[in-house]
Amino acid sequence: MGDRPKVVVTDYIEPDLDWEARQMADRGVEFVAHQLKFRPEQEVVAALRDADVIVVNMVKMTAAVIGALENCGRIIRHGAGYDNVDVAACTARGIPLAYCPDYCMDEVAEQAIGLIFACARQIPPSRRVLDDSIAKRRWDFTPLAKCYRMAGKTLGIIGCGRIGSRLLAKMRHFGFGEILVCDPYLSRERLAELGIQVVPREKVFREADYITIHTLLTDETRHLVNRQTLSLMKPTAYLVNTSRGPMVDHAALAEALREKRIAGAGIDVYDNEPPEETYPLLGLDNAILTPHLSWYSEDAAWTIRTTIVEDIELALAGKPPRYCVNREVLAPKR
Ligand SMILES: NC(=O)c1ccc[n+]([C@@H]2O[C@H](COP(=O)([O-])OP(=O)(O)OC[C@H]3O[C@@H](n4cnc5c(N)ncnc54)[C@H](O)[C@@H]3O)[C@@H](O)[C@H]2O)c1
Repeated sequence: MGDRPKVVVTDYIEPDLDWEARQMADRGVEFVAHQLKFRPEQEVVAALRDADVIVVNMVKMTAAVIGALENCGRIIRHGAGYDNVDVAACTARGIPLAYCPDYCMDEVAEQAIGLIFACARQIPPSRRVLDDSIAKRRWDFTPLAKCYRMAGKTLGIIGCGRIGSRLLAKMRHFGFGEILVCDPYLSRERLAELGIQVVPREKVFREADYITIHTLLTDETRHLVNRQTLSLMKPTAYLVNTSRGPMVDHAALAEALREKRIAGAGIDVYDNEPPEETYPLLGLDNAILTPHLSWYSEDAAWTIRTTIVEDIELALAGKPPRYCVNREVLAPKR
């Protein structure tokens, strides 16, 4: 690290980073913020090469980018997921990858709940019916699909970590008949703490009336919702995804929605973001789409800004991150 440590931000979603710049200036840190999300890899490398600490939002931190870093002692992912960062490459270079999994757990759980209710109570299509009825000067409910009572039905949760377990806690009070949870990686202690037993994924797809996905994106969870798992779902069931786009095969989901093989879907995350104009769920009445904003509340947006500054301070002080993806690089070297 030079006399004046350098922190580089690859890209950001805040209107500006003036507050962060002041925090860094007060600490004698050089602070450079870029918007490199859609820029070529060599431009990303040029911007990051001599950084001591990197804060990344959506820029792809490939093995080539990570391999070209000369001084980097820490990469901090601005957010809960880290699938845009090549973790193995960080580990190979001995760079700890910090992330922020705890700034928006309630928000994402609440968005998933909101999507479940919006699907089940047909809130967006109801607004269209209202507008049409006003224009016609008479009620016309014919465009609405059938609606069913939620009480007594079955909720399915796939992935019961930070967000899934918040959703579970909130949904316990809504009068579902049963809540089925699939998460093969919960410890016996955690299961006891949550007061649940887990079930196989197929049981959730077959039996749940509302399925909500809260896993991390891994090779195992990619396309966890696909033609085969969709074919297990009831025609009256809804699917909600607020986790990561690639968890769902969107072409297969569009087919199932178009053919009314499932009742509907609520989707906040996409393969490419924002999705292309050809995204197959656009224009489907039984799909409710939101723009990857599950994380958002003013409270969460502020929480992540302050915790990232704390994470930078920890990195500059040579202290371990609050949350580290590749903890093995923190082990003392023999
Ligand atoms: N839309 C948004 O704005 C937004 C914001 C924050 C987080 N997220 C996403 O939400 C998801 C959940 O985040 P989290 O903080 O709760 O993660 P977490 O790591 O706390 O929980 C994930 C859970 O999934 C489980 N899991 C892993 N593989 C599984 C599988 N094959 N089947 C079932 N369960 C499996 C894990 O055991 C773990 O309990 C992540 O994908 C994250 O990227 C989205």
